Amino acid sequence: MHIAITPTPEDASKLAAKIIIPQVKSGFRLGVATGSTPEGLYAELRAAHAQGQFSLEECTAWALDEYVGIAPDHPERYRNVLRRELVGSEKTGLKDENLHTPDGTAADPHQAARDYEAEIAPGVDLQILGIGADGHIGFNEPTGSLANPTNVVTLTAQTIADNARFFDNDEANVPKQAVTQGLSTIMKSGQAVLLAFGSQKADAVAATVEGAVSAFWPASILQYHLNAIIIADEAAASKLQLTDYYRQTWQAEYPDLPLSY
Ligand code: GLP
Repeated sequence: MHIAITPTPEDASKLAAKIIIPQVKSGFRLGVATGSTPEGLYAELRAAHAQGQFSLEECTAWALDEYVGIAPDHPERYRNVLRRELVGSEKTGLKDENLHTPDGTAADPHQAARDYEAEIAPGVDLQILGIGADGHIGFNEPTGSLANPTNVVTLTAQTIADNARFFDNDEANVPKQAVTQGLSTIMKSGQAVLLAFGSQKADAVAATVEGAVSAFWPASILQYHLNAIIIADEAAASKLQLTDYYRQTWQAEYPDLPLSY
């Protein structure tokens, strides 16, 4: 794992954009996350597109997950969230038909999960990730199999409470299940770039980076990923023990990628 600790979330978003933009060429398969964490990164990608430095026009994008049973026109349906963030020439150039999301409206969500797994094989080139306070990536909640392909998951009470802010602050409105890329699907990405901001993510970041690999902290599977970068702001990194070492190694290994902008 490579650990980048940035002063602010804005620095983290800029750093992630600097990592991603030079890699994107025609045919690139970009794994995209939802949640509030990647919003700053997407703004950076849109700005780079507006300046002619970046385009997803000839690329495909692959969502991590989708709520089960959410109405097709619901603004929090992840397909609609990602459309607003990325699709169109005024955003990143991504074409709607090149945005892939699990079908949360399918009568059989388990079949939708199998279909998505078949579609996404052999994996994306680069996967953008956020992290839940309980250490989930995608919607892989604690104690799910570390070997899962795309699958149907039941959300924990904490995730439902965390996501209620997107549903009129009413937990009753939050879907109870989701179709998510499994941990094995995420592990097939060529590179994984995980962003974590705020003290509410500090336990999850510490468990992911310095804890034992465990289904109880699903993101800890990334310790087995050959090319995983964890970008945390100071607050999210506040429970890490080896911060001095991470700062030294980042500067030594990525001299062209400053942590502060
Ligand atoms: C959601 C998403 C995850 C996301 C996480 C954190 O449940 N399924 O992909 O990483 O929650 O969300 P946020 O970035 O808003 O803290």
